Amino acid sequence: MTQPFLSIRNLRKAFGAITAVHDVTLDIPKGQFLTFLGPSGSGKSTTLYAIAGFQDPSSGDVQLEGKSLLAIPSHKRKIGMVFQRYTLFPHLTVAENIAFPLRVRRRPEAEVKKKVGDMLALVRLESFAARLPGALSGGQQQRVALARALAYDPPILLMDEPLSALDKKLREEIQAEIRRIHRETGVTILYVTHDQEEALHLSDRIALFRDGRIEQIGTGEDLYLRPATDFVAGFIGNSNFLAAEHLETVGGAATVRLADGSLVSGVNANGSLAPGQKTRLMIRPEALRLDRGPKTVELVVDIIDVAFYGERRRIVARTSTGQEIDIRPTFSATASHDVAPSQRQVFFDPSAAFLFPA
Ligand SMILES: Nc1ncnc2c1ncn2[C@@H]1O[C@H](COP(=O)(O)OP(=O)(O)OP(=O)(O)O)[C@@H](O)[C@H]1O
Ligand SMILES: [Mg+2]
Repeated sequence: MTQPFLSIRNLRKAFGAITAVHDVTLDIPKGQFLTFLGPSGSGKSTTLYAIAGFQDPSSGDVQLEGKSLLAIPSHKRKIGMVFQRYTLFPHLTVAENIAFPLRVRRRPEAEVKKKVGDMLALVRLESFAARLPGALSGGQQQRVALARALAYDPPILLMDEPLSALDKKLREEIQAEIRRIHRETGVTILYVTHDQEEALHLSDRIALFRDGRIEQIGTGEDLYLRPATDFVAGFIGNSNFLAAEHLETVGGAATVRLADGSLVSGVNANGSLAPGQKTRLMIRPEALRLDRGPKTVELVVDIIDVAFYGERRRIVARTSTGQEIDIRPTFSATASHDVAPSQRQVFFDPSAAFLFPA
């Protein structure tokens, strides 16, 4: 087996009575962009800080290429770090901020000069070298922080919500920059966010945190299309949950009875469910459609509202038991796009629906 690049083994961190991280085990291959996603307080930053060496774990280990980092102080760990708030030195110019980690390491002047030039080019701030941080926009300051973190070629870059203080447009712009820099430098990135769209857009893999543990880890597609739990299904993307009674599961495909009495066969079942067990059936809004398809089943509804959003239409419907559901049919050449006032059904393919214990 090839050795993982960065490895986190049974990491636990307690602050007095509060256990921030319960048990996190994780292998990160070299060059991967891994995002820690999860609600506030779920242990993302604490895990990141244990890797950076800002916090000592209560137990467990952090290893780089098979060697424990725990005895190495944070400033000797060869890890770059970018935080949520701009942490530039206000009295140093952009160029001197970027040069700082190289000066601390006593690199020769010629090397410092060249590296500062390269980093300014990497974050596209060549013409800002002589400015002070106070004369930069928030987005420009974060790009300088990124350049400073990468200046001494750390093999690992940690970022804790680096874009959350920026407005949406700037955030998207710098997301694209971060993707480009990851592509161009091959640096291994661990990135923290609680913004699922940002996580899906940036990452090779996502670790979804819940209460100090990783609930599921995989590609964005894994988490979106094959959620392991209802927490994952509810956190990533939009979802409808319908109350259902589990009848039987054969080879991972379950048959359920919905609250209106209708039977649906062939939905994805996670784990073992008993006959008669109360469950929740998850259907993504875009898995619901207005016309019958080759393998679809129908759901009887009242259409309450139809809104047009340009690239798609959003429909709110009410099931016969009074639950509101969200429907976002994908436009296609063959699908019908119009909702007749008399329409009383919507359709879905059971293989795009997921069953979880209630
Ligand atoms: N220094 C500390 N002392 C005591 N408790 C702490 C400390 N740091 C974190 N915690 C607690 O540990 C838990 C996890 O915190 P952490 O900062 O890792 O969460 P997070 O996932 O980064 O959240 P957010 O998205 O809000 O940044 C929280 O309950 C938090 O209050
Ligand atoms: Mg945090």
